[in-house]
Amino acid sequence: MLWDKLSNAELAFTFGDVILLPGKTEVEPSEVDLTTHIGEISLSVPILSSPMDTVTEAEMAIAVARMGGLGVIHRNCSVEEQVNMAKAVKRAESFIIREVVTVSPEDTVDKAQQIMKEMKISGLPVVEGSRLVGIITRRDVYFAEDGNLRVKDVMTKDVITVSPSISPDEARKIMSTYKIEKLPVVDDSGSLVGLITAKDVFYRESHPFATRDEEGRLRVAAAISPFDLERAKALEPYIDLLVTDVAHFHNENAITAAKRVIREVNIPLVVGNIGTYEAAEELITRLEIVGLRVGIASGSICTTGEVTGVAAPTLYAVAKVSTAVNKYGSKVAIIADGGIRGPAEAAKAFAAGADAVMLGFALAGTKESPGSPLIVGGKMYKVYRGMGSPSARSKRFVLDRYSKPSKDIAEGIEGLVPYRGDVATVIDKFVAGLKAAFGYVGASNIEEMKRKAKLAILSPIGTREISPHDVKPMEKLSP
Ligand code: XMP
Repeated sequence: MLWDKLSNAELAFTFGDVILLPGKTEVEPSEVDLTTHIGEISLSVPILSSPMDTVTEAEMAIAVARMGGLGVIHRNCSVEEQVNMAKAVKRAESFIIREVVTVSPEDTVDKAQQIMKEMKISGLPVVEGSRLVGIITRRDVYFAEDGNLRVKDVMTKDVITVSPSISPDEARKIMSTYKIEKLPVVDDSGSLVGLITAKDVFYRESHPFATRDEEGRLRVAAAISPFDLERAKALEPYIDLLVTDVAHFHNENAITAAKRVIREVNIPLVVGNIGTYEAAEELITRLEIVGLRVGIASGSICTTGEVTGVAAPTLYAVAKVSTAVNKYGSKVAIIADGGIRGPAEAAKAFAAGADAVMLGFALAGTKESPGSPLIVGGKMYKVYRGMGSPSARSKRFVLDRYSKPSKDIAEGIEGLVPYRGDVATVIDKFVAGLKAAFGYVGASNIEEMKRKAKLAILSPIGTREISPHDVKPMEKLSP
């Protein structure tokens, strides 16, 4: 019996063990569409940034969403801090601003000027009660020589307004035609209900594939512990997706707690991490979820496998989980998490059944990750640490990421990763690499990649052969 365990042991393949085989293709990389879905959320780039305190705060979430992915804000902070980060993402770009700063016609021009200066805005709608009666801009203020004049003396009374149902395209056309930068939004009774600014409309054009909600704001996800219902409720008004942050989610207590979150919080939920067929089967049949975070102990900063001897490497885990998802005809998205250094690992994850990838290491070295770059030996680095590392655990908010008995054991490390510039450049390169891989396989989208891609096992000698070998790279020759 016990011998069977060994002699029948499965091969838990990792990314480095396999290669993608080229297939007959009619697909040019430029024709590949990487769009994916997590529940109702559509992503034009299938990348999520990891909820780690050296990876995703507001700046990262904004940058990743602008590129068409989704940032998952970490939870190693107070509820208030996490909520403020989510709010910052929602405020970063909005098509219709709902909380509009206004003045009254009886206010002095001086006051209007001061508000514009303090709030760094260039124009203010003028309201009587909630009724829009005019607009005052920096230009009106600039030419008013007497600061004691009233707003009503200098404002533009004949204001071009739009209704709340206007589309971004229509707004842009009106702004171009009338050469105006602010477009007040009024309801049927003439009350001001919002404001559209040229900056927000034209920002959209520079990021046409950004991940946005119905109001044109960037989408954002947030990590929670399934046991922290209060955090989930506090985040609810500001986020689009909740993602549990648990090292081993196939746990009865975590499942029961997640059920309560699903019942009481009206935000779609991704759960994980998991790594087996059985875990996937149980979660997709017992929980109303939109995604699974898949992979245990493959992360670049993980020591779980080393410390405990337990792991479900991401490639193996994704293949197992996708077998269960397919068997049940489930629409749950599989998010491959851990060990994805670049497009090569990501492409293999898609081939094994993933719908999206979650990146820690690959984004930790960017300008938008938290903290400033450090210079060591003349080279720039950023700090990257596991959420189970001693320093991350010392903040105490993530102790429940790991099971109770292991709370005293570190399951991650802290280190430096090379500085890599901005997220946009890193994601652009990642996407280009992925599209090239899809081209080799002959897949024009993720579903085709799952269906058509063939994987082959690589020998240790083969592993050496498919990387540059025998030649000393030029950059290593320079002093
Ligand atoms: P990469 O390889 O992208 O992996 O750096 C990021 C993922 O690693 C997980 N994670 C951890 N796993 N100990 C672990 O065993 C840790 O301290 C730790 N911190 C993060 C997590 O799933 C993340 O997305």
